[in-house]
Amino acid sequence: KENEIILAIETSCDETAAAVVQGGQEVLSNVVASQIESHQRFGGVVPELASRHHTENITFVIEEAMEKANITFEQLDAVAVTEGPGLVGALLVGVNAAKAVAYAHQLPLLPVHHISGHIQAARLLRPWRYPALSLVVSGGHTELILLKDEGEYEVIGQTRDDAAGEAYDKVARTLELPYPGGPQIDRLAEKGNKTLDLPIAWLESDSFDFSFSGLKSAVINTLHNAKQRGETIRPEDMAASFQHSVVTVLTEKTKRAASQHHVQQVVVAGGVAANNGLRSALRDAFSDSDIELTIPPLSLCTDNAAMIGAAAHVQWKKQHTANWDLNGVPGLAL
Ligand code: KG4
Ligand code: ZN
Repeated sequence: KENEIILAIETSCDETAAAVVQGGQEVLSNVVASQIESHQRFGGVVPELASRHHTENITFVIEEAMEKANITFEQLDAVAVTEGPGLVGALLVGVNAAKAVAYAHQLPLLPVHHISGHIQAARLLRPWRYPALSLVVSGGHTELILLKDEGEYEVIGQTRDDAAGEAYDKVARTLELPYPGGPQIDRLAEKGNKTLDLPIAWLESDSFDFSFSGLKSAVINTLHNAKQRGETIRPEDMAASFQHSVVTVLTEKTKRAASQHHVQQVVVAGGVAANNGLRSALRDAFSDSDIELTIPPLSLCTDNAAMIGAAAHVQWKKQHTANWDLNGVPGLAL
């Protein structure tokens, strides 16, 4: 069966999400309960708080996803869930909810890798063209991944320290902006100018790896030194300068990897793919090339369960199901 109906569940971080996806292509519903407000006053995600909120919300979120899709549990063909990576206590809530639904309705359980979810969000827009390249940029990941064929992932570059989103969030904190900092810096950057010279970590000339911790330190030092000299730096200009460094290296390495590996399609995935500066720089970079650039809409870039349903389609076709001993795996490899 190619047009299977999957209930997908995602609870790896601070969004409690459930979606119903048909045939890995059609989103029948996509419900996300964000916990951002609860974590905001702590300046970041508090794992224990995340688990509790997931526990409180998961049943309602699943019910709402089923209602919005207008289907019954009997019409489902499988239940998919994020197995990892993520916060273990958060993952466990989704995994156990998925098991409960699957057991009660005698359905197969499909384990999904969170990053393959971010990547496969693209198939909800149009079919893949292989070989393809995906730039995954989120709060926990910065990776360039080559897709030679369906579900075949090869990591060709990754961050050696902070993830891109993590750098955004840390710099935002330094600028005393609320969590999550990415969208805040993005907004400020649009009003600022790249007046400050911040480093860009190119690393070895043939490397597709990234590094953002030096940039983060440079921001902190620049602000500190200015303060000592009694000078003020406009936060808008700092945001624009920081964003320039991040966007330039992400765009250049993606472009280079795409041409070196002769890919037909480039897919941008993860929360930082919501960044306006990155979106427009990538559009410019690929505007005069034959390579198809796919940047999902914001709702499919940040954590959601529709992307998990999309990735579960690949698992479904391979009949890659899990047993009742499925566990949340915080450091799951792709
Ligand atoms: O994929 P995601 O929702 O969760 C993870 O799996 O990590 O990504 C969240 C990250 C956060 O670091 C957030 O600051 C960043 O994505 N982010 C952004 C933007 N929107 C979200 N970063 C830069 N610009 C944005 N517009
Ligand atoms: Zn994510």
